[in-house]
Amino acid sequence: MLRSDFLWGGAVSAHQLEGAYLEDGKGLSVADVLTAGAHGVSRRITSGVVEGECYPNHGGIDFYHTFEQDIALFAEMGFKCLRTSIAWTRIFPTGIEHKPNEAGLAFYDRLFDCMIAHGIQPVVTLSHFEMPLYLADECGGWLNRVLIDHFTRFARVCLERYHEKVTYWMAFNEINNQHNFSNDVYGWTNSGVKFSKEKDPRRAMLQAAHYQFVASAIVTRIAHEIDPKIKMGCMVAADVVYPLSCHPEDVLLANDAMHSTYYFTDVMVRGAYPNYAKRIHEELSEPLDITNDDLAALTSGTVDYVGFSYYMSNVVDHSAHVDVSDSVSYSDEHMVSNPYLEANEWDWQIDPRGLRYALKAFDERYGLPQFIVENGIGIIETLDENQTVEDDERISFLGEHIKQMKLAVEEDGVDLIGYTVWGCIDLVSFTTGEMRKRYGFIYVDKNDDGTGSGQRFKKKSFDWYQRVIASNGEDL
Ligand code: BG6
Repeated sequence: MLRSDFLWGGAVSAHQLEGAYLEDGKGLSVADVLTAGAHGVSRRITSGVVEGECYPNHGGIDFYHTFEQDIALFAEMGFKCLRTSIAWTRIFPTGIEHKPNEAGLAFYDRLFDCMIAHGIQPVVTLSHFEMPLYLADECGGWLNRVLIDHFTRFARVCLERYHEKVTYWMAFNEINNQHNFSNDVYGWTNSGVKFSKEKDPRRAMLQAAHYQFVASAIVTRIAHEIDPKIKMGCMVAADVVYPLSCHPEDVLLANDAMHSTYYFTDVMVRGAYPNYAKRIHEELSEPLDITNDDLAALTSGTVDYVGFSYYMSNVVDHSAHVDVSDSVSYSDEHMVSNPYLEANEWDWQIDPRGLRYALKAFDERYGLPQFIVENGIGIIETLDENQTVEDDERISFLGEHIKQMKLAVEEDGVDLIGYTVWGCIDLVSFTTGEMRKRYGFIYVDKNDDGTGSGQRFKKKSFDWYQRVIASNGEDL
C-alpha cells in the first residue's frame, strides 16, 4: 500500500503556463526568447524579443489570471499537492536587484493561499528553466561564479516568505538536462549558456553544473536554518539507459551513459564528487574552478530526498557509432530505439517498467525518500462533439506507470513521498514550444499559433485520476 499521506497531484512550471510575461514588474527570462518549434524543429534562441517572432511562453495558458478556476479543477480531482515553480524574474526582474519585487511575491502568496484553501499543498521548484535573461546575456549565465550569490539571494527571499506554506522544495529542475550540450536549448534553459559556442563545451557544462551544485547546497543549508521542517530535494531527469544486448561493450556503455544522471545526483545526495568524476575532469582542456570552500559547501548541504522526472528509457548500442579509441565512451550517436517498446508521436519510448527500474536504482544507490515529480505523455488531441477528449491512451500510460510505481513501493521497499503528473493541465511544451503536445487531464482551447478561447474542458482522464486519488492508487 502507498502511505496514507501520499502526495498525489500534478506538476507545471511558471514559464509554461503563467503567461503575463511582463505583468506586475516581471523581467524577461531565458524562456521568453525561445521561439516556437515542432517535432524535429528545434526552438531558436533569439537575441532579445524580436518583433514578428512567435514566443509561446509569453502567453502560456494565462494561468496568471485563471489560477483560481484551475486550482478549483485540480481540487475537484482530489489533488493533494501541485508542483510549480516561482518565476525568478517576477521576484528579481534582472536577477541583480537587492530588493525583491513585492508584486511578484504577492502573486505567489495569492497562488499558494488558493491552493492551501483547497487542501492542495504547494511543492516548489526555485529554478525551472526561467532564469533572468539579464544574467544570461550580461553575466554569462552559470559560467559566472557570481550567479551563486544571485541565486541564493533569490532563494532566501522565497524560503523566508513561503516556508510556512511550502514544505517540499527543489533548487533546479532537471539539472542534468544540460549534459546534452550539443543542443543549445538545454544549456540555455538550465544555465543561460550556449555550450556549443564555448571552446570546450563539455568543460563549460561541467563548470556551470558545479556552480549550481554549490548553489543548491548553500540553499539547502539556508532552508534548514530558516525552517528545519523544510525538505529540499534534487531534481533530475531519470535517464534510464539499457544495453541493446549482453555484448560486454553494450553493458559498459549503458553503465557509462547512466552517468548523465548519477554524476548530478551523486554530488547533491552525497555531498562530494564520485571517484569516476575525477577521470571525467582530467580529460578536460583546463581544470574546473572548484575551490576548497566549494567542496565544504557541498558537504554541508546534502538534499533530503531525490526528486525526478521520468518519461522514457533509452538504449545504447556500441556498434551504432564506431569510435577509434579503445575505451568505451558514450555519445548520443550510440542511442538506438528499443525493439520491445512503442513510442509516442514525438518518439519518446513508452516504458512503465523503466520507472520501477529508476526507483529501485535510486533506492539502492542512496536509500533516501524519493518523489516522482514528473511523469506523463504528450498526445495530439482535439475536442470531440461532446466537448471532451477520450484520452484512453493517457489513462493506460499513467495506469501502467502507477502499477510499476506501486510494485517499487510494495515489493522493493522504496520510500516514496508522492507522484505528480506532468502538465496536469495542457500547457506549452518545453522542448518544442507546442500546445498540441498535450499532457493534461484538462484540455485548454489554445493552438500553437496562440489562437483559441483559452476555455478549459475536462478530459476522460479527469474522472479516472479522481478515482485513482480517492482510492490511493488502488482503482486504476
Ligand atoms: C521535462 C521538463 O523535461 O519534461 C518540463 O521538466 C517539460 O518542463 C516536460 O515540459 C515534458 O517535455 P515537453 O518537451 O514534452 O514539454
